Amino acid sequence: MVKMNYLLNTNFKVVKGENINIETFLHSKRVAAYTKRIAQYMNYCSKQTNTLILAALSHDIGKSRIPSNILNKKGKLTNFEFEIIKQHAKYGADILIENKQCKDFCDIIKFHHENYDGSGYYGLCGEQIPVYSRIIRIADVFDALTTNRPYRKAYSIASALEIMECEKYMYDPKLFEIFINLVNRNIKEMLISKNIS
Ligand SMILES: [Fe+2]
Repeated sequence: MVKMNYLLNTNFKVVKGENINIETFLHSKRVAAYTKRIAQYMNYCSKQTNTLILAALSHDIGKSRIPSNILNKKGKLTNFEFEIIKQHAKYGADILIENKQCKDFCDIIKFHHENYDGSGYYGLCGEQIPVYSRIIRIADVFDALTTNRPYRKAYSIASALEIMECEKYMYDPKLFEIFINLVNRNIKEMLISKNIS
């Protein structure tokens, strides 16, 4: 089991030039807040909930190994640059392996961009994808859509859900349904949670 205190108190070994961008950090906190809701809905025990939250908090840690001029580029990414960005899922797992985390935990991070239909980074599909990765995928996309980006304004919650509905083949259907119900039920609180600090 990954201990909460371990991750909170550990300075992950990073080499010169690697650092965590504040936007990535805040995004990860919001994704963790959404995944916590799903864990509560699923009646996960505290061990499962902690693992899911810690995975959500560290899911984009591999971005610390992506050159900042690519990561923070305001314009459209070239295909080459996009291929480099995609490496963050693998780099994240590498960092966690270097920090002696167990394989199952590293795999959650490695596969957090997998899509249910097999169209993600590694091409895993359905239940081949670790369930915590499937949960993080939904929360990750929702937060990305409802947050300002260098190249566009944030979508409203209703528009974000509409967009996700149009591409729902990418998400675990049961988890997606749970997530939509949770958002609709807690929409006011969700809006407040956009200001988590
Ligand atoms: Fe990511």
